[in-house]
Amino acid sequence: MDITEPALTGEATAYGVSAEFYDLLQGDRDRERARRRFTAAARRAVLGVLDVGAGTGIVTEVLVRFAAVPVHAVEPSRAMRTPLIARIARLHTAERGRVTVHPCTVQDCPLHRAVDLAVAANMIPCLPPDRRRATWHALADALVPGGLLLFDPPPEHPTRRREQWCLPSAHVGPDQYSAQVVSTPHEEVQRLRFTYRVHRAGQLIREEHEDFTVWPTSPALITRELREAGFTPVPAPHRTLRAALLRA
Ligand SMILES: C[S@@+](CC[C@H](N)C(=O)[O-])C[C@H]1O[C@@H](n2cnc3c(N)ncnc32)[C@H](O)[C@@H]1O
Repeated sequence: MDITEPALTGEATAYGVSAEFYDLLQGDRDRERARRRFTAAARRAVLGVLDVGAGTGIVTEVLVRFAAVPVHAVEPSRAMRTPLIARIARLHTAERGRVTVHPCTVQDCPLHRAVDLAVAANMIPCLPPDRRRATWHALADALVPGGLLLFDPPPEHPTRRREQWCLPSAHVGPDQYSAQVVSTPHEEVQRLRFTYRVHRAGQLIREEHEDFTVWPTSPALITRELREAGFTPVPAPHRTLRAALLRA
């Protein structure tokens, strides 16, 4: 096994700003959402579960709670792995014993025929087309034939106009944490700028930004890519998800 410390570039350095604010501003909502969307599939897993792009582990924790099999959390970003590991540290020993954290991209992950459920929550939309296609192939390698893939699809089209919205704010002691997202169409992609602010007694005391890119993709192209990687699209268990089975 190569244990050389990898150079921190690309996916490894992403989320360097957002990781600090992620759970505070999104944790409660995303945990409830993960329960609604993934509990039934997790309960049915008999071999293993892959959480690709595990982030801070909000979805991972739901998968661990409701599955009875090993859970693989794949997360390349060092900033996101810090709260991920902290969350795993709080699990009961038996649950923690079923989790493996892979500090790499799914393309570099050595899983082969190891899981019968793969979940990609809020992750595929942020992949450029070549990374997305490589991801389908990596997931096909990790799953056993007949295994189920559940994922959030990218938006179908870029929006025409600049849009903005806010995440629900949260309080920590005297401070109010908030995030504003501005989405700007740029050629074929959406540029998202997250601006995080902390106010104390009405005064702005911190402001930080992080930028992301979303690649809108037609459902037909996603279907074609899935088929090329060996998947057959099937009806999803939730209207916000897409699903596919790995062919034998
Ligand atoms: C928006 S976050 C979603 C985190 C988590 N799934 C959730 O819903 O809370 C997307 C995550 O995917 C990870 N990611 C990006 N490219 C990846 C890749 N090629 N393989 C695995 N994870 C990746 C990022 O580091 C990030 O933590």
